[in-house]
Amino acid sequence: MMNYSASPPERAVRAQDLTVVRGTRKVLHALDFTVPRGQITGLLGPSGCGKSTLMRAIVGTQAKVTGTLEVLGQPAGHATLRSRIGYVTQAPSVYDDLTVRQNLAYFAAVLDPGRAAADRRQENVTRAIADVDLTTRADALVGNLSGGQRSRVSLAVALLGAPELLVLDEPTVGLDPVLRRDLWALFHTIASTRGATFLISSHVMDEAERCHRLLLMRDGELLADDTPDALRTRTGAETVEEAFLHLVDEAKKPQPNTKRKQPQ
Ligand SMILES: Nc1ncnc2c1ncn2[C@@H]1O[C@H](COP(=O)(O)OP(=O)(O)OP(=O)(O)O)[C@@H](O)[C@H]1O
Ligand SMILES: [Mg+2]
Repeated sequence: MMNYSASPPERAVRAQDLTVVRGTRKVLHALDFTVPRGQITGLLGPSGCGKSTLMRAIVGTQAKVTGTLEVLGQPAGHATLRSRIGYVTQAPSVYDDLTVRQNLAYFAAVLDPGRAAADRRQENVTRAIADVDLTTRADALVGNLSGGQRSRVSLAVALLGAPELLVLDEPTVGLDPVLRRDLWALFHTIASTRGATFLISSHVMDEAERCHRLLLMRDGELLADDTPDALRTRTGAETVEEAFLHLVDEAKKPQPNTKRKQPQ
């Protein structure tokens, strides 16, 4: 018999009974899911459902997390994970008054400081700029770039240090359909050439069709953890959006053993 436990874990993320409290409110309710390695998993759900909170828990910046949360074989937030995860927050985190290359050089120095690392940093910066196809714009001020190009600068920052897991919080928000398509193509290229794992949030359901797997969320709960195809088949829907609405309605239906209020 093969001993599978001897090989590296095939899951980039494993959550069990994952619960998060923000302020006094529970915003994630005992979630169980896994994110497979080397694939693009979409985290979809309406505004306020808990996508950013879940991502923050995975990258280790969220307080009041309980349950099990394992990331690349370590507990979430473990110091060794820092360079293995690239994270792009929902708010833009690059500087308008620096060029693309200066931005990258700044973040590379934060990630990998010291004079001895200067050559390696320069290599990483040049590679990350090439990865997002911005070589010809490397010396342009970020403030003078288009929305799609700015998104790619943020992505380049996350790619510094060649992380195994990329956590991207709504990277395509505000972009036109052509730019969104190009950015998704770029995610696929990076996933297939590097074997990197992507967890990408969106509240635009048509982006779901571009993912290998989906986590569908609503009100801090998971409605589904499946492939887009399986979701459509299971719900008899033509699109993931329809499937999502179907699952919302299903979740609303009273359970057979639920006690109901007697009419007055
Ligand atoms: N600092 C906070 N204190 C208390 N509650 C918070 C705090 N930050 C967020 N929340 C609540 O936690 C819930 C989840 O928020 P979160 O930002 O994770 O949602 P989201 O799915 O990322 O939404 P969006 O699509 O708008 O980015 C929301 O109901 C929000 O009101
Ligand atoms: Mg969010």
